[in-house]
Amino acid sequence: MEKEERIRPSLLGADFLHLKREMDILVRLGIRSLHYDVMDGNFVPDISFGEKLFVPLFSRYGKKIDFDVHLMTKDTLRHVRQFYALGARNIAIHYETLDEGMDGIKRVKDELPGLSLSLAFSPETKTSLVMPFHSLFDGFLVMSVVPGKGGQSFMPEALEKIAMLDYFRKSNGLTFDIAVDGGIDASTGKMCIEKGADHLVCGSSFFKAEDKGAFLSLFADGDRIEEGR
Ligand code: DX5
Ligand code: ZN
Repeated sequence: MEKEERIRPSLLGADFLHLKREMDILVRLGIRSLHYDVMDGNFVPDISFGEKLFVPLFSRYGKKIDFDVHLMTKDTLRHVRQFYALGARNIAIHYETLDEGMDGIKRVKDELPGLSLSLAFSPETKTSLVMPFHSLFDGFLVMSVVPGKGGQSFMPEALEKIAMLDYFRKSNGLTFDIAVDGGIDASTGKMCIEKGADHLVCGSSFFKAEDKGAFLSLFADGDRIEEGR
């Protein structure tokens, strides 16, 4: 997989005083997907940004770059519908927010054609709890930090979760996507790829890198790693 597809910069790590400049850099680097963290101050303590910022960003950049909306929100299926209506087609929701179970998921997928829906799960949630729902989703988002803040340290337990999902996927001939989010840098990112992750969400490490192109190039050997695994 190409590095521009492998790495999903998280907007949360961007310089908000220079948002347009940051977005233009992503486009120039050929980044395929921007990770867009929505925090509601309820499922997680902080409030980040939501629909209001999505609209102008999507209208200016939506044709050049995909938006990968990570909903850290209660009442999450309502937000799925809202972001879908605004143009989002790649959305991750949290297992821990689905109090009413999985009943609504099939309905939402039938209702919203072309939606790619991933199931995110927090560090305290076991992989064995989410795996049975693989057929309802297009992928999993393994949280390698407690959701709610950027700049935290990678939790190595995530590696085993990725490996479990990858093993399950391979041994059953499945094709769901595996992404990982939180504390990803060059070293933790490579470990995740080796365990089977397809996509790496990078907030601080990407946006703080003085040379973002050079940061991306650290993952240029992704194909080789993949072939060897
Ligand atoms: C954390 C968010 C992440 C965050 C990652 O709750 O879901 O997407 O932006 O930031 P870093 O890469 O700094 O851990
Ligand atoms: Zn995220």
